[in-house]
Amino acid sequence: MQLQNDLLLRAALGQKTERTPIWLMRQAGRVLPEYRKVRASIKDFKTLVKSPEFATEVTIQPVDILGVDAAIIFSDILVIPEAMGLNYEMEESKGPVFPKRIESPKDLDSIHVCDAEELNYVLEAIRLTKRELNGRVPLIGFAGAPWTIFSYMIEGRGSKTFSAAKKVLYSQPEFAHKLLSMITQSTIKYLKAQIKAGADIVQLFDSWAGVLSPDQYEEFSLKYIAQICDAIPEAPKTVFAKGAFFARASMNTINCNVVGLDWNMGIQESRQLIPNKTLQGNLDPCALYGSLEDVKRETKKMLQAFGNARHIANLGHGLYPDTEVDKVKCFIDTVKEFKI
Ligand code: CP3
Repeated sequence: MQLQNDLLLRAALGQKTERTPIWLMRQAGRVLPEYRKVRASIKDFKTLVKSPEFATEVTIQPVDILGVDAAIIFSDILVIPEAMGLNYEMEESKGPVFPKRIESPKDLDSIHVCDAEELNYVLEAIRLTKRELNGRVPLIGFAGAPWTIFSYMIEGRGSKTFSAAKKVLYSQPEFAHKLLSMITQSTIKYLKAQIKAGADIVQLFDSWAGVLSPDQYEEFSLKYIAQICDAIPEAPKTVFAKGAFFARASMNTINCNVVGLDWNMGIQESRQLIPNKTLQGNLDPCALYGSLEDVKRETKKMLQAFGNARHIANLGHGLYPDTEVDKVKCFIDTVKEFKI
């Protein structure tokens, strides 16, 4: 189907656009009262993720309410470990917890490389969302990067240091590579199926990239991200590695179209290190706690630094749930009105 607004896809492919496209990580979520209402009517987060009709509804909310240039399918990166055989629970206000985790190489016998059909509820939500969007804006599919998923499977929850996951990299690298390969193979199948179901572009979230050293990042994370990108020629790919400022030059060499920046990464410096890709980001989500004037000023400063080519406006990480909706709208409108 012909898209009415394909700004994001053209920017991702490096083509010139009339204005900078914008979407926000975590645009579907607790910032919106309309999301909280749907969420309150349903048992829990996982039920929402597994109900294609409701997932479709909250995926489209930010397109209607905020006017973003793309939808991102409502799901979570943790659906992959679950489909591989490691169940997670989303504890209210605490985040994800895995009752069982991967502790030793023999635990690998209890999990498997998953097939995309095991995540049919996400594929169904994508098909339904595409139908409902009716070509208004592109739909972004996504998955966690293997290192980030590995961290959750080993740690069993979020962590400040990720010392248990890093311990495996130092003490049992072969075991680490085995699990990372299983996650990589599962992710390739899953992303290919998302694209087949209708996702126009896919993003890999490497949320815990920043705890690794540059050498470890190359060996245990970027290598697998590169494998995923090479295996998926059918759609543009975005890689967002939070905290991996040290890996920017390497990011320029892998087979992706867009590199996401967090707010710690200088914009000019990033352009020099990543000259071949479109850049996405990178306003500090906390900038949206300022006044409307502050938000406008910070947004314009960011846009000026990126210039008017090869940029997709976004935050440097997901929206915080206590952000006021009018500040979010102000960020989006300032980007849409901006002329260099
Ligand atoms: O709008 C969107 O961005 C699409 C939906 C989306 C969610 N999670 C929904 C969600 C996406 C792209 C994700 C990715 C995700 N999930 C990441 C990578 C991005 C990042 O933030 O670094 C990570 C690390 C997770 C794991 C996860 N899921 C955590 C740590 C938490 C708890 C923290 C929190 O915000 O509560 C979640 C829960 C989650 N995933 C929520 C949403 C909307 C909040 C749950 C709720 O509604 O109660």
